[in-house]
Amino acid sequence: MKSLFGRDLITTQEWSVDELERTLALAFEFKARRFDHPLRDCLDRRTFMMFFFNPSVRTRQSFECAATELGGHAQFLEPKTMRLKTETSAGETVQDAANVMSRYACGIGIRTLETAVDRYGEGDDLLREYAKWASVPVISMAHDKFHPCQGLADVMGMRMHGGKNLKRKKLLQVWGKGALVRSWCSVQESILINTRLGLDVTLAYPEGYDLDPQVTKWCEDNAAASGGRFEIVHDLEEGYKGADFVYSRNWQSPAFYGDMKKVGADAAKKKEIEMAARYDDWICSREWMSRTNNAFFMHCGPVDRGAEVTDEVCDGPRSIVYDIAENRLHVQKAIMALTMART
Ligand code: CP
Repeated sequence: MKSLFGRDLITTQEWSVDELERTLALAFEFKARRFDHPLRDCLDRRTFMMFFFNPSVRTRQSFECAATELGGHAQFLEPKTMRLKTETSAGETVQDAANVMSRYACGIGIRTLETAVDRYGEGDDLLREYAKWASVPVISMAHDKFHPCQGLADVMGMRMHGGKNLKRKKLLQVWGKGALVRSWCSVQESILINTRLGLDVTLAYPEGYDLDPQVTKWCEDNAAASGGRFEIVHDLEEGYKGADFVYSRNWQSPAFYGDMKKVGADAAKKKEIEMAARYDDWICSREWMSRTNNAFFMHCGPVDRGAEVTDEVCDGPRSIVYDIAENRLHVQKAIMALTMART
């Protein structure tokens, strides 16, 4: 099998199923042998550069721990301290920054979510521009379109609890009301990777919360190729019925980007929160979970408790949210070992 050394990871959709399986297998090995795996020093004295245009708990901490546990170091970079060129200010170009960083680092991670960009897709374009010029791998640490590390950690959690073969198991990816006005990235990555792995994925949301049509088209194609199913519903009964996994998360409406431009981020967020508050039923509760096939509850974090999910479900015996958070560490170690170390 071809080596993954040097590969970028912008979305799991661009890696083959075999490559994703190889990554997951190594992540499970790292989980089983956290400090004594034969690859534990594979990034000995290497540095992974991390650009955060937006805040983070899990991603920053898990990448820092991952680099440390592989014998290397992760450097936290705040782009505003770096004199980078933007559309409105002079500064260093991506070409130069990426080339220079490639002389220092074994890999570059970038997080750029909706409030750091002017239009949907600009974050994805930025990652691809870095990937074009960098001679080391560029890894998405969550951007406006995708969150590949999260998608892999979700699958790892589902397999820990549901077994390795999840083909034809039902994943309900359901919109939840909330005050955090969430990105599309984790949700889009989840429906992409799970349709590729042959699950039956039901995407449920109130009318008006459509995701990227290119992504939902890929999900249809993925399901046709994997033998799974992909459907979109706007009805909670239909969504929860028979689900094996429930992943409840808020996401912003497609109008959000335009509103940010027109009235600014704060006013656009206020509008989204007011709109979301209308959908009282769209919270993952014990009542809704009772319609499922004793489903596991999933979330990528941070959880908006009392909005996306009740405490009772989030803290209940079928919740796997902390396992999924832990898995970020194991999958990122696997990604780094495979793409950044000559293993
Ligand atoms: N799930 C996730 O990426 O969490 P953070 O935003 O805390 O990094």
